[in-house]
Amino acid sequence: MLLQLQTWPEVEAYLRRSRGIIVPIGSTEQHGPIGLIGTDAICAEIVARAVGEAASAMVAPTLPIGMAQHHLAFPGSISLRPSTLIAVVRDCVASLARHGFERFYFVNGHGGNIASLGAAFSEIYAEASLKAPGGAPGVKCRLKNWWQAPRLMETVRELFGEGEGTHATPSEISLTWFAHPERAQPGRALEPRIAPRGTFADAEDYRRNFPDGRIGSDSALANSEAGKRIFDLSVEGLSADYRSWLAEA
Ligand code: NI
Repeated sequence: MLLQLQTWPEVEAYLRRSRGIIVPIGSTEQHGPIGLIGTDAICAEIVARAVGEAASAMVAPTLPIGMAQHHLAFPGSISLRPSTLIAVVRDCVASLARHGFERFYFVNGHGGNIASLGAAFSEIYAEASLKAPGGAPGVKCRLKNWWQAPRLMETVRELFGEGEGTHATPSEISLTWFAHPERAQPGRALEPRIAPRGTFADAEDYRRNFPDGRIGSDSALANSEAGKRIFDLSVEGLSADYRSWLAEA
């Protein structure tokens, strides 16, 4: 159930049976020589929409741009500052809370968003806490990365071993190739096979340390069959988690 494909009376009717909404959030940033710029948004979106179907839950439009300043030395990457991302999340939650939504389940596709999302949740709670008690019931937010599902990371380790790495990983690229088979580039070997590991600060520093954009990964291991397995585990795990979270007080 996609929010953007509902009418307002339909949203009003939904709110009579549920106060929960799933919000996919990603990033628009380079993912190495064979990974798509939209990888993190695509992964979050396909998982969130399937969780919405499994749990009969409303799914908000995807927030496709995140905190990705460290990728800006590669063409096509777009970033919000942490403070901008926090403001965007606060305003989206406040808009929907005004109508009665109370449980915001963020399905995240980008590690770089985690700190800002945590800060946004704290801002939202602080605003409620600083008001006198007795107002409307409070909003609760939850962040789940698509890879935080039972057995998922074990499966990824079995599939890709040390080639998984931490950026432009074969697991996330597999998910995007499952979603967009026409954009798959299977069998394209990369040099070096496994990208360097290490730390980074700003965008220039990142590009110096990781010249083709990957960190520690062998993106060439990606394949859409693996993407399907990872997708199924993610949707199963997050659907169960969403249901049990909504059942809590
Ligand atoms: Ni990514």
